[in-house]
Amino acid sequence: MSDNKVFIFDTTLRDGEQVPGCRLNTEEKLIIAKSLEELGVDIIEAGFPISSPGDFESVSRIAETVKDVTVCGLSRAVEKDIICAAEALKKAKRPRIHTGLGTSDQHVFTKLHLTREQVIERGVWAVKLAKKYVEDVEFYAEDAGRTDNEYLAQVIEAVIAAGATVVNIPDTTGYCIPEEYGQKIKYLKENVKGIDKAIISTHCHNDLGMATANSITGVQNGARQIECTINGIGERAGNTSLEEVVMALRKHKWLDYYTDIKSQHLFGISQLVSQTMHMPVQPNKAIVGSNAFAHSSGIHQDGFIKNRDNYEIIDPAEVGVNASSIVLTARSGRAALHHKLKALGFELQTETLNVAYEEFLKVADVVSVVEDDNLHELMKKLKVA
Ligand code: KIV
Ligand code: ZN
Repeated sequence: MSDNKVFIFDTTLRDGEQVPGCRLNTEEKLIIAKSLEELGVDIIEAGFPISSPGDFESVSRIAETVKDVTVCGLSRAVEKDIICAAEALKKAKRPRIHTGLGTSDQHVFTKLHLTREQVIERGVWAVKLAKKYVEDVEFYAEDAGRTDNEYLAQVIEAVIAAGATVVNIPDTTGYCIPEEYGQKIKYLKENVKGIDKAIISTHCHNDLGMATANSITGVQNGARQIECTINGIGERAGNTSLEEVVMALRKHKWLDYYTDIKSQHLFGISQLVSQTMHMPVQPNKAIVGSNAFAHSSGIHQDGFIKNRDNYEIIDPAEVGVNASSIVLTARSGRAALHHKLKALGFELQTETLNVAYEEFLKVADVVSVVEDDNLHELMKKLKVA
């Protein structure tokens, strides 16, 4: 396997589903899990089995249904959680238990009320217990973003020695900036004995709007798994957005990393998740927002009509969007009006176009977005139709 493959770990159904109002039932979760499998994710974090009977049921059903990806269940570093996750994953072809605990001083002292040494012992114990049930055990060092690197390295070294196959370095509070997060991964890569026996994973939250950048910087410094969600949904400001990291890697071929995501499914799954979770996608959301391929100002429209590459770095078909659009507003120029009228079957000479443009601006100031119907009316008024 190429060293440059980046594994995509989707946690829409676990970290994403923690968002208030986004609760899904088992059938809805199954539909999303099957779509994620079709999309080509490597790992689905299907839920947190100990959290409720409903979540246990969802993880078990996904584990028995979805066979082409690894199915993962979350647990705290607590015996009953790990046993419950193992039970829920019993029918999975490729089960993974994701266990761990906080490692920042903030979490160690004021949440867990343990010592740093006790945290290492608990982490090692949890990994060893999970290993009795499954081969593939991922350890998370919660709040690693705010954990001192030297101590984090000790924790990670100990859990890898205990058998962790993946080590997750979450920026739980979305605190880091890219250079800082990248340095953290680099430090682990250079200072942890046995680090090459495990895959380093990023898990970034978006409190400062850095989740995508931090995940990519993590990869550039040695991580080979990105944890993310569709539309970037998740606690507070959300998680790393799957569509953003996938397309950022794809559009920067010189970085030489790849994922197995079939990007043409991105828009469809974004809509599915948004509708099922009742969570609208903001219009200006990168890659999948309704304005992501819409051009509305005169300068951009003119440049786009001359050559789409002037203002688009992604062909919309590459992410499953039908076509780019030219939105006519009072900021549009003659070129856009001409282009749109031509598409509607009206070929205007310069003089008529100039008159039409003056009339168009009057309409645009009133209606904000000029639709095809408005243009038909305008052509009637000018006796072109
Ligand atoms: O943000 C976080 O630290 C998490 C862990 C449970 C992996 O979601
Ligand atoms: Zn998280």
